[in-house]
Parts: sequence; structure tokens; C-alpha cells
Amino acid sequence: MKLKYFSHSAFQITTGDGKVILIDPFLDGNPTSPVKSDDVTADFIVLTHGHGDHIGDSFKIAKRSDPLFICVNELADYVASKGFKAHNMHIGGAYNFEFGRVKFTIAHHGSISPEGNYTGEPSGVLLTIDGKTVYHTGDTGLFLDMKLIGELNKIDYMLVPIGDNFTMGIDDAVKAVEFVNPGVAIPMHYNTFPVIQADPEEFKAKVEAAGKKCVVMEYGQEIDL
Ligand code: NI
Ligand code: MN
Repeated sequence: MKLKYFSHSAFQITTGDGKVILIDPFLDGNPTSPVKSDDVTADFIVLTHGHGDHIGDSFKIAKRSDPLFICVNELADYVASKGFKAHNMHIGGAYNFEFGRVKFTIAHHGSISPEGNYTGEPSGVLLTIDGKTVYHTGDTGLFLDMKLIGELNKIDYMLVPIGDNFTMGIDDAVKAVEFVNPGVAIPMHYNTFPVIQADPEEFKAKVEAAGKKCVVMEYGQEIDL
């Protein structure tokens, strides 16, 4: 499997057999993204919550590539109301898709569509693909149940927000990494806007001081997992 980072919370996973999964593809309105929505396609789109910087360009991409959306029930209903295919799930539930297993977790945040539609609870998501588990926390503050998530699941890669203001800042994010105990922590949701400026190298140094591994992905970089 390959993991590509577009900046903010937007990632692309490509499975060993070539399926493309986008997570929170916020590209056109994202000043830090090296690609635009016309440059990507998707077989699946996973959304963590309804905020505009997470739904992003999902619908534009979906008009071209007809992906299956995977998200919590109310957000999935909103996606379906726009005429797109959606698989409704909810927090605590897992499902085996053709590419792997998806399980939703809690996230402490808000969720509403840019048009003001109720889109349910915000979420994080565990994706187990080709034998590895990626935990994208979504937008969230620090919460103690991350310990349980790490206890019940061997997390290989944790994608963790560090930008503060709307989510965890660096110090809380380091604590989150200690709770989850992933193989590698990857920072996200920083430097996109003036209010979420954060130094990923400071995060990396603090994660390493806590005895854990951290990879700071460059915008547009793709790594093999
Ligand atoms: Ni948000
Ligand atoms: Mn956000």
C-alpha cells in the first residue's frame, strides 16, 4: 500500500492491487495542496466529518470517478442526497470492504456541512489494508480513549493533527501518540491557515524524545507503507 499526503488532512491510499482511497480530499480551496481536484480520481472516499476542509472537493471528484463514499450515517445520508453512492457506518462499527477493513472511532470536534446540513458526529477512522493499520484521527482534541484504541488495535501509522486552535496542538498530539503507541506518527492539519501554524519538526522532535517514531510528510510526497 502507498500513502500520499496532499497537505491538511487530505491523504490518498493506493492499495497493492491498485484501488485508490481518498481521505478528506480538500484540494482546490486548500492553499497548501500541490494538486487540484481534477488531478485525482477515487474508487472510495472516506470522510471523517462534514466540515468544508474535509468534505473538500469530494463531490467534484465523485462526478468524474463515481467512488463509494464511506462515512458515518448522517454524513453518508447527506452524500447520498447529492446523488452519490455511500456506505453508511457509525462510530464503533467496522466493515470489510474489497480493499480492507474500515472502523470508525470517536473524535471530539463538531460536524456540519458547508450548507448547514446536520452530518452526525465527527469521527476518526481505522483502515486496515494489506496487513497494515492506519489511524486517521480526523479533527479532534486529545481524549483518553485513544489508549483503548491503541490497546485494541496494532496501529502502524497514526495521522495526527498538530495545528492547534481547531484540534490538538503539538503537546497534546505528542500525548496522543503516547496513548495510541503507533509504529509511526505523521502530523497533519497544520500550516494550511494562519490560525493553525505549527512546526512539524518541533512535533517530530518531541515524539522522538518520547521514544516514538515520526515521519513529516512533504506536500505531495508518497511513501510505501
Ligand atoms: Ni473540522
Ligand atoms: Mn478541519
